[in-house]
Amino acid sequence: MTAEGTDRKHGYTRRNFVKSAGVVAAGMVLGGASQETLAMSGGPKAVTYPNDKHAQASRWPRYGPKDEAAVLEVIRRPNYRPIEEFEKDWKEYLGVPYVTAHCNGTSALASMYFALNLPPGSEILVPSYTFFATIMPMRLFGLVPVFVDINPRTLNFDLEDAKRRLTKNTKALVPVHWLGRPCEMDDILSFAKERGLIVLEDAAHAQGASMQGKKMGAWGRMAIFSYQTSKPLPVIEGGMGIYQNREDYERGTTFGNYDLPNRFPKDSSYRQYQGTGFGLKFRMHPVSAALGRVQLRELDTRNAAFTAQVRRLNDRICALPGLYEQGARQDMQRVYYARNMLFLDEAQAGMSRAACVKALQAEGVRATVHEYLLQHQCAVYAQPQWWHHPPQIPHLPGSEQANRTAMSLPLFTSEVPELVEQYAVAFEKVWAHRKELA
Ligand SMILES: Cc1ncc(COP(=O)(O)O)c(C=O)c1O
Repeated sequence: MTAEGTDRKHGYTRRNFVKSAGVVAAGMVLGGASQETLAMSGGPKAVTYPNDKHAQASRWPRYGPKDEAAVLEVIRRPNYRPIEEFEKDWKEYLGVPYVTAHCNGTSALASMYFALNLPPGSEILVPSYTFFATIMPMRLFGLVPVFVDINPRTLNFDLEDAKRRLTKNTKALVPVHWLGRPCEMDDILSFAKERGLIVLEDAAHAQGASMQGKKMGAWGRMAIFSYQTSKPLPVIEGGMGIYQNREDYERGTTFGNYDLPNRFPKDSSYRQYQGTGFGLKFRMHPVSAALGRVQLRELDTRNAAFTAQVRRLNDRICALPGLYEQGARQDMQRVYYARNMLFLDEAQAGMSRAACVKALQAEGVRATVHEYLLQHQCAVYAQPQWWHHPPQIPHLPGSEQANRTAMSLPLFTSEVPELVEQYAVAFEKVWAHRKELA
């Protein structure tokens, strides 16, 4: 399904939004700074914010005295208690029955695929537009990634494309909530139920995001989070496995924890693996866990502040012809992670993405062309020697469209109203001159 199709279906077209917000998009009245000569043609820059403060505005993570105190406490009295405490906090926050802390999101994904306990050759539908870790650990268990396209306007799992890729071996699917924007979990779950498929979630980017009041990571049979430095809840390196049922939890946990089986109930068939696990050690560092506990206390407040600031900018600039954001449905409470992603429809805007980004950069906007590494184009998937059942390499037009149209802005992680205003003016100025850039 095209981006417009999905958007229309859920009633959140950009056109509707612009209309409801009362913004005059097409014949926008642009005055003042917008009329000045473009900076690239010798005019004044729209963004005059000092360079060092500009760089600081998107600094991440933002640790403070509470984080420092928590780390000091662990290194003064080294012990593993913070791990269990962080697990308890996260379990309550998410409202799920079982969680296990991990040394990173990648190890949580490997444990999740082990917990699936599927026969080699089982196929798993997964976007190619994701980090390697969503896919590559499947290889260790003979699971076959089946690459699914994304909606180029949401960067998320395209369910219609997934439906076309079903075979008798399809067993599970893994939506990834890209950059904190929830996937359409209601549609995905009802399709999966109809076809008897297991739903897993890669919620590495989506700490605190929710849909219909339910947190991302709590929708699938299993899910993972990453808490790596860049993530909304940063502990530098760490992850979490989320499990809805006891068998998955005990099996997934035993894979990388020789020391945890005896915390399972007496009748657990995994208790016998206390002292060995299944060969790996995926324990979270207690310093990470201590940081995670402090960061969690601020997570919702921070997510809300980032969203409010992005809205102030995007509500204004996405009224410009041909400029779109990574839109979300009204029943989704997305979070922002790492960047503010925009898309340019070159035909509607009347200028190329390259020319637009160049002009914005000249104005002082830290915009970049955004092209993400597509997994299905990487060498390892085309080399049968690494696979029990080698994956098919498809053509994914939505993923390619995303790479042709995406441009990224920094995500401001502190309140910078003046800078936001200057960014908005810079966009309006470039749009006012877009005929020159054509
Ligand atoms: C979508 C996605 N999944 C999984 C991971 C793996 O997490 P980690 O880096 O903590 O191993 C990442 C990390 O960036 C990611 O972006």
